[in-house]
Amino acid sequence: MAQVSLQNIEKRYGVFEALKDVNLEIKSGEFICLLGPSGCGKTTLLRILAGLEDLSAGSLQVDGEDFSTIPCHKRNVGMVFQSLALFPHLSVGENIGYGMDIRGISKIDRRPKVEALLQTVGLEGHFDSSVSALSGGQRQRVAIARALGIEPILFLMDEPFSALDATLREHLQIEVKKLQHRLGVTTVFVTHDQNEAMSIADRIVILNDGVIEQSGTATEVYARPQTEFVAGFMGTNNIFKADFEPGKEVMLNGISLGLPTGDKAKFSGQHTVSVRPEYLQLRSADADTSGLIGTVNFVRLLGSSIETELNVGDQTFIHTMVSDRAPEFAVGDKAVISVDLEHAWVIPS
Ligand SMILES: Nc1ncnc2c1ncn2[C@@H]1O[C@H](COP(=O)(O)OP(=O)(O)OP(=O)(O)O)[C@@H](O)[C@H]1O
Ligand SMILES: [Mg+2]
Repeated sequence: MAQVSLQNIEKRYGVFEALKDVNLEIKSGEFICLLGPSGCGKTTLLRILAGLEDLSAGSLQVDGEDFSTIPCHKRNVGMVFQSLALFPHLSVGENIGYGMDIRGISKIDRRPKVEALLQTVGLEGHFDSSVSALSGGQRQRVAIARALGIEPILFLMDEPFSALDATLREHLQIEVKKLQHRLGVTTVFVTHDQNEAMSIADRIVILNDGVIEQSGTATEVYARPQTEFVAGFMGTNNIFKADFEPGKEVMLNGISLGLPTGDKAKFSGQHTVSVRPEYLQLRSADADTSGLIGTVNFVRLLGSSIETELNVGDQTFIHTMVSDRAPEFAVGDKAVISVDLEHAWVIPS
């Protein structure tokens, strides 16, 4: 177990800044997910932790000691790459024992350790199997066992499940979470999948363009996004600018959304607001044309719910409701939106 401290980390490739002033404290035994869109710097940060990449500036400490000057092979870090990087000519057992071999553990001593790891990842009896004869999910487990074989102080995974089908991915997510909890190893897991991050992480760190936008539990980043980027990145959201004045109705482009509730009653001036699609209501504009009126742009069924997209001027709203009936609205229909202000979130400016 290791406690990791990243301070003012910068990484430049020529003039390009892949990481800009990254600050992050990782608690011993914590399971962190680095989440963000393609190119935001997730792999770069992971490679810095592994020692595969130098820092341009800043400090990296593990358990209070400078980690940045320790070469990669002496860091005792277990890493699972997106591409797995298993050796196809070695057996499952030899693959898992590889890191131990490098560290000078004899063949005789390796065997029981590898057998124990095979059991840990649910691959008992596969010591002599050929890696190429395994399924994608089994290979993934071999890569995890190999990374854990060196008893790492830090366990790093870079989108390890992205090539697997949804069912297997979910299964392995749960297994990795349980395994990590049991071993208590400090873990950094990279993903660009919000649901994956929310289901396995103790804490999600959202990166965008080389900057940490927010870090927090799944509930914190989902329900209380601190930036517009996070509000838009964590699940579907309606984001718009509204005008507030204490004691008065909230206005969107001059149209009233009703009286604000709770803390929102204290705001004044223009603020960015986010509201989840389930907290919008839609009604037909046939009888009632007061309020936010728009045109239905798209309708789709999502299993137990219906999603409706509506254009109001240059703003698009997304509405969902749980329903087992046929959609009430069709493309081209006029509809009026109301916003459940109690569930609206004002993004701190
Ligand atoms: N060796 C390098 N030389 C130059 N630029 C690089 C190098 N490695 C990464 N970059 C750039 O740094 C940025 C961050 O890359 P990184 O691989 O960390 O992104 P990522 O968040 O892991 O993306 P993805 O989800 O696509 O894997 C990208 O713009 C990338 O092109
Ligand atoms: Mg990457």
